[in-house]
Amino acid sequence: MTFDPESANKAEGGAYALKIFQATLNILSHLLIGIVVGVSLIFSFRNGLPLGATMLHIVLCVVGYQLLMAEAILSLSADNGWSGVLRFRDKRRAHTILQVVGAALAIAGSFIKIIDKTRNFNTLHGRFGLVALVFTTVSLVNGLTSLYAFEWRRFCPGNISKITHICFGIVAFAASSISLCYGFDKVFFRMWASEAFTNALIAFTACFTAIIIINPTINFFKKSYQLVSK
Ligand code: HEM
Repeated sequence: MTFDPESANKAEGGAYALKIFQATLNILSHLLIGIVVGVSLIFSFRNGLPLGATMLHIVLCVVGYQLLMAEAILSLSADNGWSGVLRFRDKRRAHTILQVVGAALAIAGSFIKIIDKTRNFNTLHGRFGLVALVFTTVSLVNGLTSLYAFEWRRFCPGNISKITHICFGIVAFAASSISLCYGFDKVFFRMWASEAFTNALIAFTACFTAIIIINPTINFFKKSYQLVSK
């Protein structure tokens, strides 16, 4: 086989362009997370302390899902800024800590509002919140079996445990973002933030959610294909 420097250069250029594209998407997702979480916090604390049940619910859910769980998913991606320098073992540690703390805040935030209401899950916002809550809990338990996949291989084959963990995590995060969009759609939020800015926040949420779940979705299909073709 002869070495063709021109096509090798082209391939290198293509891979470099893809790296720049991925790095741009990564920085964009951090920026959008910052805006969405920041505005939600400003909204919740606008009347000062102490926070009522609804405002506390917003703070805990948004910080839990859209800040900590989003960063937990991003931490494992090869193109992520802050976790890029970490060894794989430390990336996994960061992922576990962020996921456990994020899930704890999100679960607490959801229950504060569930207990506060007399009739439950009668809105699309609440129903998607419930889906996020259930999948987050399952994904947390399932995450442990993935972490100790080698030790628990007799009870649960490693690959299946990882594939289901990725799948449950994607569903949980996507459902939480849909719930957040329905939360922004509430009249009292639209009146405070204005129509145009609320629509922009919903678009930002859709955008960073899509960027964040691209990598795990590709991984999910790759791992499923490997399992089936074995
Ligand atoms: C990731 C973000 C969020 C999640 C996962 C979430 C989840 C939930 C859940 C599980 C409930 C209880 C539903 C029920 O028992 O019927 C609820 C209720 C509620 N949430 Fe959220 N929430 C989020 C963000 C927000 C935001 C940003 C707002 C407002 C700006 C908001 C306002 C409300 C209100 C007013 C209720 C009571 C009315 C209803 O059930 O629709 N939430 N939320």
